[in-house]
Amino acid sequence: MPNDCGPKIDAQAPADGDLQMSREQMLDLGQRALELVVERIESLSGENAWEGEFRQVLEDQLLEDAPEDGRPAAEVIERAAREILPVAARIDHPRSFGFIPSSPTWPGVVADFMAAGYHINQCTWLVASGPSQLELVVIDWFRRWIGYPEGAGGLFTSGGSAASVDAFVAAREAAGHPERATVYMSDQSHSALSRAAFIVGIRRDCIRMIPSEADFRMDMYALARAVAADRDAGLNPIAVAANAGTVSTGAIDRLEEFADFCAAEGLWLHVDAAYGGFAIVTERGKRLLRGIERADSIGLDAHKWLFQPYEAGCLLVKDENTLRDAFGVRPDILQDTVWGANHPNFSNLGLQLSRSVRALKVWMSIQVFGMAAFRRAVEKGMELSAQAEEYVQASPILEALSAATLGIVCFRVNPANRNLDEQVLDTVNRTVLARMFWDDPAFMSSTLLHGTFALRMCIINHTTTWDDVRETLEAVERFGLEALSKNRTPA
Ligand SMILES: Cc1ncc(COP(=O)(O)O)c(C=O)c1O
Repeated sequence: MPNDCGPKIDAQAPADGDLQMSREQMLDLGQRALELVVERIESLSGENAWEGEFRQVLEDQLLEDAPEDGRPAAEVIERAAREILPVAARIDHPRSFGFIPSSPTWPGVVADFMAAGYHINQCTWLVASGPSQLELVVIDWFRRWIGYPEGAGGLFTSGGSAASVDAFVAAREAAGHPERATVYMSDQSHSALSRAAFIVGIRRDCIRMIPSEADFRMDMYALARAVAADRDAGLNPIAVAANAGTVSTGAIDRLEEFADFCAAEGLWLHVDAAYGGFAIVTERGKRLLRGIERADSIGLDAHKWLFQPYEAGCLLVKDENTLRDAFGVRPDILQDTVWGANHPNFSNLGLQLSRSVRALKVWMSIQVFGMAAFRRAVEKGMELSAQAEEYVQASPILEALSAATLGIVCFRVNPANRNLDEQVLDTVNRTVLARMFWDDPAFMSSTLLHGTFALRMCIINHTTTWDDVRETLEAVERFGLEALSKNRTPA
């Protein structure tokens, strides 16, 4: 067995001046890579969810000139697997709750390997017809889940950030690329949105951060006032970005009201559903996201709640022509790639020319497991976070700071009977986070909710169990009590 007696890959480096490997060398190297990855997945739950190292240590280990002569592949792959790749957050660990974690399915991982191995460049129909058709198929699945009409379309992107850039380009062009354009988003919007807006040329002082209400949803009245004030000042409002799952709390803006408002004002409505959008495959998600189908564009991340490896973002638009009008180009060098009306070139719908076939991972994993399994996996995240919220509510030590709308719960250590001031609570909770980081196998992160420091768990990994969640919350309580005992304020 290769695993028991060590790698049987070539002891020799490939022949001088040659960039090829023999069939045996390729199979051996591939087999070893597979074993290493599967081994890692099998041992994941016994590891800590986070691993990292200081730069100096890593520099000492890794900094070197590119070698002039090749080294044995066995050595190189072992180094990657032992020294480099494990020194990173184990985002797919069942107790990885920080930021937005994700846990890819195996067919999705294998699909990425195959896409690289088949060396697909899905820029145009001429260069990649089969993969282009596959992207049409998967985009059409998404279109139907969202409830978009025929004629809607979109494309895969590297992620939610790139989808936001493409969306704002489409919005800007649909508005006729006016001078002094303004866009609107909430103070809970992901920073990717404001960055996307200024990348597409919206001046930073024309990006309006509308305050959110106590439930972290955008204040519609404040939005209406800001748009009216900007129009009065001679500015040109072009787009509103609403949230379908804010990154801090999972809050969902009032999508129906946004759609009414944008229709009345002639504004482009973009919905950032990078985190929460795929909840739509469940009945509960469909109810929560009602109105999303009225948006002009929607950003989705299959590498978040659709269990795909990075990178798998997506932009959907209600009218595919809005992307084609904004991005379509016909350079001489690509003149041969115009292949009839029904052969779309995905490079004409967004930023990228050379692009991988990201749809393959979604397609392969859904073909293998079926939608019922995906639905259950998404539902499980929502159930576990609701359970976590109940636990927090019932705890004498913890205080809930936001409702578990999708898969996120925010809370802090704040015993009901202690009447602690905000400064003490801030110190105590930062200490708890640090203790979780260094002394507990789970990984969680924090956020500021209207200025209040909050501990935050995002529970969307399909391998996470209630025990994983409960034991993590118990650790927070334990570290909380310890921190409180050290922070006793004089009576
Ligand atoms: C709500 C939301 N929008 C946008 C993004 C940015 O997406 P990406 O990291 O895929 O570029 C994120 C990432 O966490 C997100 O949670």
